[in-house]
Amino acid sequence: MSSRILETIMADDKNHLFQNYGARKPVCFVKGEGCHLIDQDGKRYVDFFSGIAVTSLGYGNRAFRNALHRQIDSIIHSSNHFYNREQNEAGRLLAEASFPGKTLFSNSGTEASEAAIKLARRYGMSLGKKRYEIITFSNSFHGRTFGGMTATAQKKIHEGFGPLVPGFIYLPYNNIERFARETKKNRNICAVMIELIQGEGGIVIADKHFVRDLFRICAKNGILTIVDEVQTGIGRTGAMFGYQHYGVTPDIITLAKGLGGGVPIGAIHAKSFLADFLPGGAHGSTFGGNHLACAAAAAVLKQVRGKKFLENVNAVSRYFFDALNALAGKVGLIREVRGMGLHIGIELTRPGADMVYRALENGLVINCTAEKVIRIMPPLTISMKTAREGMKIFERLLMQEGGRQ
Ligand SMILES: Cc1ncc(COP(=O)(O)O)c(C=O)c1O
Repeated sequence: MSSRILETIMADDKNHLFQNYGARKPVCFVKGEGCHLIDQDGKRYVDFFSGIAVTSLGYGNRAFRNALHRQIDSIIHSSNHFYNREQNEAGRLLAEASFPGKTLFSNSGTEASEAAIKLARRYGMSLGKKRYEIITFSNSFHGRTFGGMTATAQKKIHEGFGPLVPGFIYLPYNNIERFARETKKNRNICAVMIELIQGEGGIVIADKHFVRDLFRICAKNGILTIVDEVQTGIGRTGAMFGYQHYGVTPDIITLAKGLGGGVPIGAIHAKSFLADFLPGGAHGSTFGGNHLACAAAAAVLKQVRGKKFLENVNAVSRYFFDALNALAGKVGLIREVRGMGLHIGIELTRPGADMVYRALENGLVINCTAEKVIRIMPPLTISMKTAREGMKIFERLLMQEGGRQ
């Protein structure tokens, strides 16, 4: 897979950059077209990854590009010292797509987690001095800054960083008895933070009864519900937000990834009364919600909320599940296919890292998480034709592998 151009890029990476991402895959994408990516040597790939569920509109989407060009030609950044019409519009569109409330913009998912944690603590501590504890769940992922990292109930993410933020309680996912017991005995809990599909945790789906009972218990005890929609939000699961599959309304949602279509942006959207708990000076960001990022978010939201848009997500999703379940019947390598919309996990019977490399060699970008789970999360604009093109490659890989067993 190596070319002279790639070797130079790889050497420059080693010379100039931290190596905190471990061994990067030996590819440097230089262009995107629709749902395809093109590398440093001009080779084309079907994109089933969308930059970890970020490039929701694919590459070169006309309305998105035009919105960005217009914004770049007028103003990219002023600061949160001033009013910002693009922020207003993105906030309005978010409220229309979710629930009546207010939005606070940041730059990433982990910053959205931080804002949600700070807001929940301010709210809780207005009720009682010690009411700052937050429940999160095993195998969760909420980010890499200290708050987000501490909220993430995975030891390997914490290692080597010294004391974490106090006040987090980790409970097993999908276990309502443990949740009920903890909230009954502990009166210092201000919030629970949950992913309804654990993405980094291996596409593990929250059980409907668990979620409904959890929301009921929280409502009864004045505990805020924070749903981490960083990965599941903005159409990824076939609904605008993951929580909409569950018939519940959270107090706070956190957003990032697909919201900006590739332009970095994060946000929390919260019920209006909560906005009062972060008054002037309590929280902020220099870049958060700048003109360009919010113009991007508004352009994404306008497309995703169109009825046809989610119809496509759901139609392609059905195709994937049918094709993958049929494949699972043919090869012994697949333990389970699970997910929602275009957020799909294929759990293998063995580690899947090498599969990612072999897919790349064959012109397909996929990802492996939680060691054995191949993740398929293409741009939401993917056509049936491109989905079939990528699946053909994936099927061939698995059939070769299955044949070897
Ligand atoms: C559910 C969830 N929350 C938070 C984050 C953190 O987002 P970011 O990497 O933008 O800080 C991620 C990132 O993968 C995520 O999947």
